[in-house]
Amino acid sequence: MNFSATHLTTHGAPLLGVNIDHVATLRNARGGRFPDPVAAALLAVEGGADIITFHLREDRRHIRDDDVVRLKASVAVPLNFEAAVTDEMLGIIERTRPEHVCLVPERRQEVTTEGGLDVVVQLARIRDACSRLAAAGSRVSLFIGADPAQIEAAAHAGAPCVELHTGALANAWWNGDAAAVQAELARLKAGLRLAHSLGLRTHAGHGLALNERSSAAPGMEASAPISSTGLVAALPEIAELHIGHALIGQAVFVGLRQALADFKAEIVRARQVVSL
Ligand code: PXP
Repeated sequence: MNFSATHLTTHGAPLLGVNIDHVATLRNARGGRFPDPVAAALLAVEGGADIITFHLREDRRHIRDDDVVRLKASVAVPLNFEAAVTDEMLGIIERTRPEHVCLVPERRQEVTTEGGLDVVVQLARIRDACSRLAAAGSRVSLFIGADPAQIEAAAHAGAPCVELHTGALANAWWNGDAAAVQAELARLKAGLRLAHSLGLRTHAGHGLALNERSSAAPGMEASAPISSTGLVAALPEIAELHIGHALIGQAVFVGLRQALADFKAEIVRARQVVSL
């Protein structure tokens, strides 16, 4: 067994929020109680997860209301409750009082959260939600694309944090499209700089994975290929990463504790290589 990477120092490295939705997806495929996403959350914390992230969707396709209650009762690290900006969800969050909330867009037909929130168009509604959730004691983050107008709107909405959507970068990486990776990385860096200049704490997530490719990333030696997770973790403004699908996928092959160790090692390595 090799869990040692979980014990590497993570000083200065982004915190890792582990999204457990896909454990619930697997459970729900058979309609029973196994595998239990709450048990997975507890194991993830043992393995080094800094935050447990989950998305209570309107259609309850993975996480369900009773999971939220059990997570709140049993998880010792901060919970990051992802939810759409609806009255129902705001009410559940106010009753649950998670440490963190990430407001996301939601469309019933989508397979996953496909884009960021349109804060520009929904500014008044999102500003109300931010102040309601802040009053309930939750730190709010808005899940948006790395688009200057959205970042500025997020600051106007009063959110202390933004989570920038890395789906396009991650897809470009999987496709081996180096030009698109560079373009997305440049967009992300500019977005992070702008968000920081506006006083926002910056997170990132969606689609991030470990490397199955051998091409070297910008700033890295040719012998040190880096994953989409590492590429984003290396950016100094990133305070938190939220990762689900690829981490739970990796766990199918190596177990959840080792998957945690593998992702944490990649995050730490990315920071170390860049800071050399
Ligand atoms: N961050 C947010 C706001 C999300 O909605 C999701 C997906 O639920 C993630 C991160 C994690 O994405 P993935 O499962 O692709 O790692």
